[in-house]
Amino acid sequence: MSASTPSAPSPLRSIPVEALAREDAANELAALTDEIAGHDRRYYEDDAPLVTDAEYDRLRRRYEDIEARFPELKTEDSLSEKVGVQVSSKFAKITHSVPMLSLANAFSDEEVEEFVARVKRFLNLGDGEVAFTAEPKIDGLSCSLRYEKGRLVSAATRGDGAVGEDVTANVRTIGEIPQKLAGQDVPDVIDVRGEVYMDAEDFIALNARQAEAGKQIFANPRNAAAGSLRQLDSAITASRPLRFFAYAWGEASALPADTQHGVVQAFARWGLPTNPLTILAHDAAGLLAHYRHIGGERAKLGYDIDGVVYKVDRLDLQRRLGFVSRSPRWALAHKFPAEQAVTVLNEIDIQVGRTGALTPVAKLAPVNVGGVVVSNATLHNEDYIRGIGGDGQPIRDGVDIRVGDTVVVQRAGDVIPQVVSVVLEKRPASAQPYHFPDVCPACGSHAVREVDPKTGKQDAVRRCTGGLICPAQAVERLRHFVSRNAFDIEGLGEKQVHAFYEWGLVKEPADIFTLEARNAASLQRIENRDGWGKTSVTNLFAAIESRRKIALDRFVFALGIRHVGETNARRLARHYGSMEALRDAAVAAQMPKEDVVANDAWAEMINIEGIGAVVAEAVVDFFDEPHNRDALAALLKEVEPQPLEAVASGSPVSGKTVVFTGSLEKMTRDEAKAMAERLGAKVAGSVSAKTDIVVAGPGAGSKLEKARSLNVQVITEDEWFELVS
Ligand code: IVH
Repeated sequence: MSASTPSAPSPLRSIPVEALAREDAANELAALTDEIAGHDRRYYEDDAPLVTDAEYDRLRRRYEDIEARFPELKTEDSLSEKVGVQVSSKFAKITHSVPMLSLANAFSDEEVEEFVARVKRFLNLGDGEVAFTAEPKIDGLSCSLRYEKGRLVSAATRGDGAVGEDVTANVRTIGEIPQKLAGQDVPDVIDVRGEVYMDAEDFIALNARQAEAGKQIFANPRNAAAGSLRQLDSAITASRPLRFFAYAWGEASALPADTQHGVVQAFARWGLPTNPLTILAHDAAGLLAHYRHIGGERAKLGYDIDGVVYKVDRLDLQRRLGFVSRSPRWALAHKFPAEQAVTVLNEIDIQVGRTGALTPVAKLAPVNVGGVVVSNATLHNEDYIRGIGGDGQPIRDGVDIRVGDTVVVQRAGDVIPQVVSVVLEKRPASAQPYHFPDVCPACGSHAVREVDPKTGKQDAVRRCTGGLICPAQAVERLRHFVSRNAFDIEGLGEKQVHAFYEWGLVKEPADIFTLEARNAASLQRIENRDGWGKTSVTNLFAAIESRRKIALDRFVFALGIRHVGETNARRLARHYGSMEALRDAAVAAQMPKEDVVANDAWAEMINIEGIGAVVAEAVVDFFDEPHNRDALAALLKEVEPQPLEAVASGSPVSGKTVVFTGSLEKMTRDEAKAMAERLGAKVAGSVSAKTDIVVAGPGAGSKLEKARSLNVQVITEDEWFELVS
């Protein structure tokens, strides 16, 4: 048995967005925020994703759909405003003068047709034509190369989109990237952007070398490219065969053309590698034809691609279209469907997570799925194995999954793929339905499926009830406690937490801080064990010491309360201001929950923006557990959580409600709306007492009158530009 699973998805996940209540939507947004952030970190920082791209895209879509349905739930830390993750502290940082953004995804022909129609509608072009480029979407990692006076001066990864990692020395070792650009029309300053990738053949040879040397094996060429570029020793990067395609740009003092394809052609003239499969098309049919052409060529390319990217060709139109949250409105990534293979399911393993969730993992006869050898796949949960979906309805025509079955596995550029179906004809006569354990494989406690008191629905996840007596949960909790976004204690990773737990040195969080002082012998006890030298022990103790003061939100997050991820931890920390206040509120809110009116503490907690009954219930339950209160008290003797600083306010219109009326002359209504929203304003369709500003163009009628009667500020389009510029 192993004990490392990401936390299980919330049961709300099975409710269609249209049917979500506002409060549930808030809870789910918070849960999704953390889940997505976790996957982002695995993908961008660790180069080791845990879910398929398709699964990730699904989470992201659900997030966006919920935000679209409940715009009022959007907060300043909305994920739709962010790309990638914080950069690793291993590297110096480079701030991108123009942010590096992401692309919106499409999976069907209809979505591509809708994209083309949307672009035309936005630009108010009627039947007029718009040209688009179409080119392969390279499965590597994006990189921004800064050239000044034609010379390469720096290179940065995307990072969180605003700040990337300085990989200049490493990029200089990539033979295909010119140190100097050649040409009359090379501007003084230009950030050339594109994808660093590795050829399939080079990837296989690299893995063979790594295996021989007993070093890290990469799951796919993308991870190999990322791992090779993000090296502290550029000699290692130099030994890895990295390649590059240029396809975009950031800051530029001048541009060599006024179209997308024109600029990329100039890149090629200047000596940068560009992709030969780039074409121009004039409608959705042309884009889709090229998508199919590239799909047909995919296996022969010799490098991984995961779709086709479409971009509006004229740069003036790109500028008018602008951006919506984290991606340009003028571009679209049309993804390829996931890859599948058939193999035999040998065994079902049950892993126990931090919250006690029992997750089934398929142990497969190793099989090659689109270039990656797969031997583990997720089976999601008990119902999934039985052929029942999240909504209680049959999936796979109700066919269950049995040990011995021949199954279809699917992956999409990931590490942990999923079992998607069963080849029933091949089921051995002896195969028996799988009995999901009702006791925890780690501690033997009962494992139960909770019933949501509000909906009466059974949780999809079975959980161990052993709490802290369960070694799997205790270790997982400790691992969570020291993890990067919690206490972030350097030198105390998964391996060390396991070892310290087994040696009896650390059983609960406070033990970490008493480790050094508890007994003089502890130093020697650690020092003489596998791999621990004097320096590493001294460094560990220093790292622990440095965390005796820690931001309150991290502290709350580190406690590992169910449903309290980073986002909700921040909300609770902001609202209560101290750990003691939060604890006291939770204890007070424990009283008669049914009597919502009588219980002020409970009412206060569920009224916090973004915190609903599900989260509040989890907080209350956590503090209701005497063991948790003791563990917290012990911890508070060692650690001093620091209250959060106030948040800075944004643009002059941020938080204001704006109404546009009359005809606008400098921008379309959609552009105006997008601009206002980008600046943090809420755009409303009608004027009310809550309206802050009305932007009125010629021909404005009843809305203008109403604004005047309500004494709402009325400005012209020009004044609007002045205000926001
Ligand atoms: S254009 C503002 N073109 O896909 C948008 N991106 O999912 C600039 N990618 O971050 C990106 N091939 O790492 C563009 N031909 C291509 C691409 C491409 C791969 C990557 C890039 C981007 C990600 C978005």
